[in-house]
Amino acid sequence: MALWEAILCALLAAAFGGLYLAGAFRKRRANEPPLEKGLIPWLGHALAFRSDGVDFLRKMQKKHGDIFTVLLGGYHFTFLMDPLSFGAVVKEARAKLDFNEFAEELVEKVFGYQPSSLSHKIMDSASTKHLKGNGLVVMTQAMMDGLQTVMLHSLGSAEGGRPWEQDGLFHFCYNTVFRAGYLALYGNEPRKGENGLPGGEKDDLRHSEEVYEEFRKYDKLFPRLATSTLSYGKKREAERLKRLFWGLLSVNNVHQKDNISGWVREQEQQLAEEGMPEYMRDRFMFLLLWAAQGNTGPASFWLLLHLMKNPKAMEDVRKEVDRVLRESGQEVKPGGAVINVTKEMLTDTPVLDSAVEETLRLAAAPLLIRAVKEDMKLKMSDGREYAVRKGDRIGIFPYLSAHMDPEIHPEPHVFRYDRFLNQNGVKKEFYKNGEKVKYFTMPWGAGTSMCPGRFFAVNEMKLFVFLMLTYFELQLVNQDVEVPPLEKTRYGFGVMQPTYDVQFRYRLRY
Ligand code: HEM
Repeated sequence: MALWEAILCALLAAAFGGLYLAGAFRKRRANEPPLEKGLIPWLGHALAFRSDGVDFLRKMQKKHGDIFTVLLGGYHFTFLMDPLSFGAVVKEARAKLDFNEFAEELVEKVFGYQPSSLSHKIMDSASTKHLKGNGLVVMTQAMMDGLQTVMLHSLGSAEGGRPWEQDGLFHFCYNTVFRAGYLALYGNEPRKGENGLPGGEKDDLRHSEEVYEEFRKYDKLFPRLATSTLSYGKKREAERLKRLFWGLLSVNNVHQKDNISGWVREQEQQLAEEGMPEYMRDRFMFLLLWAAQGNTGPASFWLLLHLMKNPKAMEDVRKEVDRVLRESGQEVKPGGAVINVTKEMLTDTPVLDSAVEETLRLAAAPLLIRAVKEDMKLKMSDGREYAVRKGDRIGIFPYLSAHMDPEIHPEPHVFRYDRFLNQNGVKKEFYKNGEKVKYFTMPWGAGTSMCPGRFFAVNEMKLFVFLMLTYFELQLVNQDVEVPPLEKTRYGFGVMQPTYDVQFRYRLRY
């Protein structure tokens, strides 16, 4: 064979190999879900999915029903859209459906972090110890202290009455909750500040503001970074920010702080004991910050906005907050002591609990992904069985399948603050096709990957709203302003953000 023929054969073989790997020759086999490969090899439907995941999945569901397989950027994803069948995925053994594989790829791409074999175990045990039970009492108090520093530091400093302040509500909520949570988790600036002079609240305020500003830059780039769709310039900016955070939150820097939370300290220590190098633990610190602080601020914004847009909801939550404060024997008065809201007090707020759950139904849109480790059968709740191939992925998107299903939640786009309010101590139940739905909302994910910070997150939001309603009068600058639409590129990444901010005013109540 002439040389050119050999080269041609090699090129053809490489092209066929590439197309094979890109899924171009994949055919739907018997018992497999409908297959959608799209027109572009490897990419498949990735572009449509990234630009508006909800719209794309809705169209696919209309065409194929409750289960279908789609090629997205080199992977075949089987989407399960029937909430009554979610148990089959959530409860499946890790040997068959694994959360870690996808998560590890993502955290390496986005945070440069390579987990060790024990990382997840270490996170689980630290979270059980510090973000639940007695640990949660300590963390809630630390958050309360953080909020006092960030929100209430200027109380009583205004001369001449109670002037209105104006701000973007999203900016205000995200900034406040992020900074208070950051101080609660990563500790305070050393009380002996620069040049040996006493540091303190001022240093915490300045430093946490700087961290927030940089964090927001990264946060805005995050969805496109995760889906590898950043322009060259933005990619470099993301790289710069990543390195900045590795430094800011380096183990060395964090060790200088006072009052670091047990959750952060213990995980870092155990990873060190396990032999993870220091530079990798620096990266872990950044990953934790993002996981812990990227969602609660935006969720607090939606909660406060919905309350401000719904006077009856606001009135009922305010009444509840006032009652809980009164029963704790505390009161807000000019020049009086700053109130202290405890975890105990937060256990007696059913109306606020329902408003938080409703907020997360409307605003939390995570995509839960599992890697298929062996060929398996997926059994739907109606008895149908589908074959799923090893190497594929399974996706569940509860926002569309459960949160926005009008049969489970009538008028799904409407904020009904009492939707989840238990009646006379009886837990609310939700139904579809006459069957009880177990997974009627899933803001925290489910199964092995369920958010370990969920109890703390809820307390963060509740503390924030508790203090806002107790201390401040609140007004939207334009009472008729619409609730802004969701920023579509963030579907799949936790709590959604608004496409624009909403101006509001606040001033002390007393
Ligand atoms: C409204 C606030 C929050 C929401 C909606 C939320 C939601 C979620 C979701 C959906 C997941 C992943 C589930 C999956 O991929 O299957 C997750 C993971 C995680 N969350 Fe949260 N989260 C919130 C706040 C927090 C807070 C405050 C902390 C910590 C203090 C935290 C720590 C984590 C960690 C460490 C993971 C990774 C768990 C793992 O790898 O197994 N989250 N969260």
